[in-house]
Amino acid sequence: MKILIIGGGNMGLTYAQSFQRSHITSKEDMMILERSEQKAAELALKDIGTVYSRPEDCIESADLAIFAVKPQDSAALFENLKKLVDPQQVFLSIMAGIRIQAITEALGVRKVIRAMPNLPAQIGMGMTAFTSSDDVTRIELVMVQNLLNTTGKTVYVEKEEAIDAATAISGSGPAYVWFFMKSLMDAAREMGFSYSEAELLVSQTFRGAIELFSKSDLSCEQWIDKVCSRGGTTEAALASYRQNLVRDDIMAGAVAALARAVELGTGS
Ligand SMILES: NC(=O)c1ccc[n+]([C@@H]2O[C@H](COP(=O)([O-])OP(=O)(O)OC[C@H]3O[C@@H](n4cnc5c(N)ncnc54)[C@H](OP(=O)(O)O)[C@@H]3O)[C@@H](O)[C@H]2O)c1
Repeated sequence: MKILIIGGGNMGLTYAQSFQRSHITSKEDMMILERSEQKAAELALKDIGTVYSRPEDCIESADLAIFAVKPQDSAALFENLKKLVDPQQVFLSIMAGIRIQAITEALGVRKVIRAMPNLPAQIGMGMTAFTSSDDVTRIELVMVQNLLNTTGKTVYVEKEEAIDAATAISGSGPAYVWFFMKSLMDAAREMGFSYSEAELLVSQTFRGAIELFSKSDLSCEQWIDKVCSRGGTTEAALASYRQNLVRDDIMAGAVAALARAVELGTGS
């Protein structure tokens, strides 16, 4: 199966490298279309596939084309591609906010899969939600899921609206975690730790808590109960969080992200 990645930036490169590392595709079957001359030269040095600068030189031979350009570049890209694509080709878009219908209409194609990955895909720890148009066959869907699985975990969602919700939870989610980490690091600094000590205390605490959670059947509440003792330090912190409605604030942030994802999808 010949794969063409369109856009060799952060995500395009992540995908190309993940597919190659997992041996799911060979270098001979991997093509990358990149408009930036400098990036194209850098990509060529990485030796992960053939790098092209013109769609007419590569799109026709692709069984699967992956759209990894910024959403604002999609209209110009579709304009360039629409006379070159074939309805039998499968398209995977990871562009935030660009609806399946917008792609099928702009290109006159039918087989479109839309996915929302996140940044930890760079280290094979990503979370990707994906969905597809009705014309994508089960075999094509499994083939694409296998590719996405090389970057982490995946979940198939029936309704496209769930991609917006996944954008608000897992797509933007790593930034929420880093925000919490940074806040705790700031507290550690105020308590007298050096920057590197604060980073170590916080990052290892997050890593340990997440590992413990993922290796057990206990819920977050049950783990919280295990750390808390009546009248103790953790209870004091959690009482402060509750009084300050921190949980509500975190939920409101995710809801704001969802509203923005929906807005982007309507072109606002
Ligand atoms: N980064 C994330 O965490 C993340 C997470 C989920 C989804 N996404 C989605 O992934 C997509 C790519 O994001 P990114 O961070 O990888 O962007 P990026 O680093 O800017 O990469 C996009 C690349 O595509 C090139 N390009 C633009 N139009 C092109 C065209 N017509 N033909 C060939 N190459 C073209 C750009 O060239 P120029 O440099 O010349 O513009 C750039 O090198 C976005 O749509 C984003 O919504 C990203």
